[in-house]
Amino acid sequence: MTTENSSPDVQEGAAVPGPGIDTTLARRRSAELEQRLRDDPGRFRVLTGDRPTGRLHLGHYFGTLQNRVRLQDLGVETFVLVADYQVLTDRDVAEHLAEHVEDLVLDYLACGIDPERSTIFTHSALPALNQLLLPFLSLVSVAELRRNPTVKDEIAHSRQAAVSGLMFTYPVHQAADILFCKADLVPVGQDQLPHLEVTRTVARRFNDRYAAGNPVFPEPDALLSEAPLLLGTDGTKMSKSRANAVALAATADETAALIRRAKTDATRRITYDPAARPEVSSLVLLAALCQGRDPHAVAEEIGDAGAAALKRTATEAVNDHFAPLRARRQEYARDRTYLRKVLQAGNERAAVIAESTLDEVRAAMGTRYR
Ligand code: TRP
Repeated sequence: MTTENSSPDVQEGAAVPGPGIDTTLARRRSAELEQRLRDDPGRFRVLTGDRPTGRLHLGHYFGTLQNRVRLQDLGVETFVLVADYQVLTDRDVAEHLAEHVEDLVLDYLACGIDPERSTIFTHSALPALNQLLLPFLSLVSVAELRRNPTVKDEIAHSRQAAVSGLMFTYPVHQAADILFCKADLVPVGQDQLPHLEVTRTVARRFNDRYAAGNPVFPEPDALLSEAPLLLGTDGTKMSKSRANAVALAATADETAALIRRAKTDATRRITYDPAARPEVSSLVLLAALCQGRDPHAVAEEIGDAGAAALKRTATEAVNDHFAPLRARRQEYARDRTYLRKVLQAGNERAAVIAESTLDEVRAAMGTRYR
């Protein structure tokens, strides 16, 4: 997958048209599910994940991380996947993979994902999860894989000379990520909706073929959230690979330097008008999100003081808001042993579940030889 078209570079729920995906139904369904979640959080199991390709940024924070912490704090059982095999879909070598995994776990912990309540795990550590890929692949046709709009888009933007088998089949692998723990809710951005459709298809076909009357898998739902759309400092989509994003882990000085270089426009008076003034409005929105205020009020207050004042406001807002998170992150970063323990414990917990699901799958398929 390319950095252009898939989260983690796209914010979950961002109002960007997906590649030929109708989101009306998914949005309506998500609103319904939100209500049920609030009424009975204990009934749901959530799985989300990211590819470890670098440090997460403010777009991830306001787009997805905050939402995960909210679900966890509501009391929903939450699984957070570090999708380390999926990194290999669009590159030939996984450089710095171990470092990226550590960075991702640090970002999670710093944001408030609590390993006591949420299971943080890497899918490469779970043989039973990966084994689900084999029966699952048999349930999907090559024509269906070819039609997947997100994969098509990623292939079009891929930096690889040839499309690997893993790229082509990764949505089925993702079905294993989701179904191994029988998650029923998957908070994702709309670029991931086609993948969720694959997961639902796999679950349905498996149940029909092998488990009629006694379904093994639920058909999970996407949970789309209304995430604010933050642009990168160059006015294009915020993305790790474009050097236009403020990382969660950035220092106050790095934040200031990046925001100082941000693109604005020639109109002095600051207003909040995302359609007509995307760059200025994105900075206003960033300040507003950090301060928990209405963006119009933030713009109004800066008024004729212009872009320099806006940048000062945004920088201060980010640095103030993220200071505690950044301090926590640094503390965790000093304790490698703890990080390893978090992953080890998460992997152990997830492995038990994966083994038990695989056992059910074997029983349903008639391949439980004991
Ligand atoms: N494809 C997702 C992304 O690029 C990461 C991912 C892997 C994922 N497995 C998942 C997301 C399962 C949700 C559920 O962001």
